[in-house]
Amino acid sequence: MAVIIPSNLKNISLINFVEEIAQLATPDEVYFCNGSDEEYQKLCNQLVINGTFTKLNEERWPNSFACNSDPSDVARVEDKTFICSRRKEDAGPTNNWMDPKEMKTMLKGLFKGSMKGRTMYVIPFCMGPLGSPLSKIGVQVTDSAYVVVNMHIMTRVGDKVLAQLGAEGEFIQCLHSLGAPLEPGQKDISWPCNPTTKYIVHYPEDRAIASYGSGYGGNALLGKKCFALRIASAMAKEEGWLAEHMLILGVADPKGKKTYVAAAFPSACGKTNFAMLIPPTDMKGWKITTVGDDIAWIKPGKDGKLHAINPEYGYFGVAPGTNADTNPNAIAALSKNSIFTNVGITPEGDVWWEGLSEKAPTNVLNWRGELHDPASGKPVAHANARFTAPGHQNPSIDPDWENPNGVPISAFIFGGRRSTTIPLLYQAFNWNFGVYLAATMGSETTAAAFGEIGKVRRDPFAMLPFCGYHMADYFNHWLQLGRNLPNPPRIFGVNWFRKDSNGKFLWPGFGENMRMLKWIVERVEGEVSSIESPIGWMPKYEDIEWGELAFTEEQYDQVMEVDREAWKNEILNHEELFSRMFDRLPKEFFFMRELLLSGLWRSPEHWSLAPEIH
Ligand code: GTP
Ligand code: SPV
Ligand code: MN
Repeated sequence: MAVIIPSNLKNISLINFVEEIAQLATPDEVYFCNGSDEEYQKLCNQLVINGTFTKLNEERWPNSFACNSDPSDVARVEDKTFICSRRKEDAGPTNNWMDPKEMKTMLKGLFKGSMKGRTMYVIPFCMGPLGSPLSKIGVQVTDSAYVVVNMHIMTRVGDKVLAQLGAEGEFIQCLHSLGAPLEPGQKDISWPCNPTTKYIVHYPEDRAIASYGSGYGGNALLGKKCFALRIASAMAKEEGWLAEHMLILGVADPKGKKTYVAAAFPSACGKTNFAMLIPPTDMKGWKITTVGDDIAWIKPGKDGKLHAINPEYGYFGVAPGTNADTNPNAIAALSKNSIFTNVGITPEGDVWWEGLSEKAPTNVLNWRGELHDPASGKPVAHANARFTAPGHQNPSIDPDWENPNGVPISAFIFGGRRSTTIPLLYQAFNWNFGVYLAATMGSETTAAAFGEIGKVRRDPFAMLPFCGYHMADYFNHWLQLGRNLPNPPRIFGVNWFRKDSNGKFLWPGFGENMRMLKWIVERVEGEVSSIESPIGWMPKYEDIEWGELAFTEEQYDQVMEVDREAWKNEILNHEELFSRMFDRLPKEFFFMRELLLSGLWRSPEHWSLAPEIH
């Protein structure tokens, strides 16, 4: 099939890439995306005609659509995600690996004819503000119109990116196919994908991605996890920067002083909520602004500071649990021009998910398209149902969210989902202990990945599924970065998810997390006291501004408790992670583990010596 190259495409390696894939996958036609609104509308209408999209009630949800995926295609597939570095050792023990040559041969077989009967879309996209020295360009080739419209929201796409790329510019090759070719006359289905064969593959040395068989989220929107985390982390290691699974937020204090913080929580563990937090009404003058909710690219500047950009342009956020109380800013962001995947849909063109309001609408169809039966116990929305919403529709968006130079980061926060052991808030003694804290973080698995839910696993830096190279090399990279910073950001640990013996959350969370964030910001400024515990500095009850929140000292002690026996066990679990990557583990880690252990032997009544300002 002859590909007609548009006149504004001058980049020879891009032309070659497109022609090569068109020959292999044999689509009916090739379409170059220009990124216009008309293009977006046309493709959405086409998705409605195809039965993929339901157009929502225009008055209630302007210019918005909902769809249901195939039950085999509802989340990231970690066991089918591969880092195909040339050497197995470079992928490390936490990634799946296959020889890149073998993988390419196998995938060639799968991609052969895989776009038959479909249109192949070429999407030039930019991760980060156009023209920023921190941004990078990718080109995704895909046979999914759903992917194109989602990429329109999640990244900067089209002609402006092509212009930026120019004739010589470099781009990341992102190849994607649903793996669902159509024979002549065969009718398409509402969510084409390959129900049995899925592969999400990364070639870090080639800086290329190939994804087959899935149309969902991070499997298919290749700018997100595949490029901005897995490939970018490998590039960042070589080039001396960081690509992280982190939100970025700005905290303005009552005097108007702004502090930027980046926080890593695993998938579905509260990044979007935290990034858009609205402080409790009694904390007058405090304000949170959002730079990003999922990914941060962070580079040391000549000024000795770390500068961060959000490479994304929109939010692909967890719908269940999102409502006007837990996250009013997200509700505003998704109120128009948005796409909903795997939520409930009513015949009136309304959407619903668990937690949106108290009760499901009576006539709602669940994410499988069946009439919801409250007695069945089946949920309306899939637990990993998502909204795709434009970033600029978030009322709390930071004025500098598109600043090409990024924003300066003063603190890092790491937090997992842990019902026991880990206290609400603590501060690492220094950069190295902070890296240890992040490296040994554990979290209960969530619906964001296919597989068992609720099992504690080590999720270093919330990057376990997203690090494009050997995890121990990644730890060393973080340590090395800190050595070169005159005044590295302070590092904190949080756990919003600790529960009592009845399984009830001990901490109200959401907006109330502002009280913890205030202590964090004040610690950065050296303005507030703490006590020294074996695991780090911790706020005393009176160091936290409680305002109108009825949270007793007793409750506080419970959610802040450092239980010696539980922590000894926790440190044993660190060992389990370390033993898997012993050969490349930073030598510092062994000493830090010993120091932590020895601290735990000090009797708790001696932990709170004189308050320290540090
Ligand atoms: P990804 O987009 O998957 O990377 O996840 P995320 O970290 O952005 O997840 P998100 O903020 O959407 O987290 C959603 C889940 O976290 C929902 O189950 C929320 O109810 C829960 N959550 C968020 N913040 C809090 C909190 O402060 N306390 C508690 N208990 N739950 C929270
Ligand atoms: C995550 O799983 O961390 C997400 C959603 O942010 S996805 O883009 O599907 O990876
Ligand atoms: Mn994420």
